[in-house]
Amino acid sequence: MKRGDAPGDGPCLLTGATGFLGGHLMAELLARGRRLVIAGRPAGGESLADRIRRLLGWFGMQRREAQLEFLETDFLKPGLGLGSGEYERLRRRGLAIIHCASDTRFAEKNRAAVMAANVTGLAGILELALRSRARCFHLLSSAYAAGIDHSDCREAPVRSLRFNNPYEESKALAEKAVSATCRAHGLPFTIIRPAIVYGDARTGRSLRFNALYHPVRSLLQLRDIYLADIRENGGKRSAASGIRLEDGGGLRLPIRIFIPREGKINLVSVDYFTAAALAILERPEDGAIYHLTSRRPASMTRLAEFAERFLGLSGVEVVIGAAGAARMRNPAEELFDLFIRPYRPYIADCRDFSRENADRATGGAQPPDFDYAIFRRCMEFAVAADWGKKLF
Ligand SMILES: NC(=O)c1ccc[n+]([C@@H]2O[C@H](COP(=O)([O-])OP(=O)(O)OC[C@H]3O[C@@H](n4cnc5c(N)ncnc54)[C@H](OP(=O)(O)O)[C@@H]3O)[C@@H](O)[C@H]2O)c1
Repeated sequence: MKRGDAPGDGPCLLTGATGFLGGHLMAELLARGRRLVIAGRPAGGESLADRIRRLLGWFGMQRREAQLEFLETDFLKPGLGLGSGEYERLRRRGLAIIHCASDTRFAEKNRAAVMAANVTGLAGILELALRSRARCFHLLSSAYAAGIDHSDCREAPVRSLRFNNPYEESKALAEKAVSATCRAHGLPFTIIRPAIVYGDARTGRSLRFNALYHPVRSLLQLRDIYLADIRENGGKRSAASGIRLEDGGGLRLPIRIFIPREGKINLVSVDYFTAAALAILERPEDGAIYHLTSRRPASMTRLAEFAERFLGLSGVEVVIGAAGAARMRNPAEELFDLFIRPYRPYIADCRDFSRENADRATGGAQPPDFDYAIFRRCMEFAVAADWGKKLF
């Protein structure tokens, strides 16, 4: 790194701290005694500071609030809506910028909003970095910025021109903008690309319940609908779909999950993500890209077995090769197929991620293998938190 003597130390400006990964980075940076400027927005009538206070409570870190400053910004306004005095004040701080904020929705219908937040909004953050003479810039990207043209994904600039969804495309565009701007202005930078992040593997705690959680929640909802039908209405609807109670009390729910090939689901726990990201942030290499991915990703077949075991189900079957062309067998199967549609590219993924830079930065630390004990802890937490409704 060129600017600053100790790029890994000192105060940081963090965006996305009200989100899953940004929240965890904030907690860990605070635990290590760092001072942070939190840039973000109010929501639901709550100020940014109040939103962060609630999050600090969840982490049991209320007493760390004194290490924080709050900067209410609108990423889409010119100059982020900040006055020149504000830039001058930030300039004196010599900040490292960690840009975690992102619109993480996949659906094509959200393309405009996703591009606005992840690409247009990024221009404002980069301007902030330049005008405030930041020490360095760290972009939270995604392993899936790699797109779909190549299956051997290196810790190198994106080569693909095709992507599964606007989210992936926006992350690739964001990476390009960061590396071009930072190189042009001599601002040291890194790009951190996690795979799919789930809760804390040791405790099961999580702040978000999408991705991995979504299909399990969908199966649980279907299970409860059919159990209620059997127990309260005699089970006529269930019987018509081949759904019935088994002798041991479990529910037979014949649902096929169609995937084009065996593929893999690349999952990393949030505790691994946080430790690895901190190792990078503390000793960044200018221009380096880091894959925070698993070398031993799980398979859909294995996850379906975990879900059956956790939910007391049988009959969930992963069908490889049918590519969704088969006629749906029953309304439950049809609904489940609809529920998991946005995640389809990630449940049978054939992309391989090399991770030499990440291994060097983290001393070779790997995410834990995703076994049933971890699955159970995470899902028990999710159910107790009512999938996020009872978090705070
Ligand atoms: N979670 C994963 O599995 C995963 C995997 C790979 C990469 N990533 C990357 O990691 C980063 C964090 O992801 P996450 O899972 O923590 O996402 P998240 O929980 O959805 O949080 C997103 C954060 O971005 C902010 N944000 C979104 N749209 C915004 C906008 N238009 N203006 C200002 N702020 C906006 C949100 O602020 P509000 O709270 O105000 O909405 C929130 O703080 C993202 O860059 C994502 O692409 C995540």
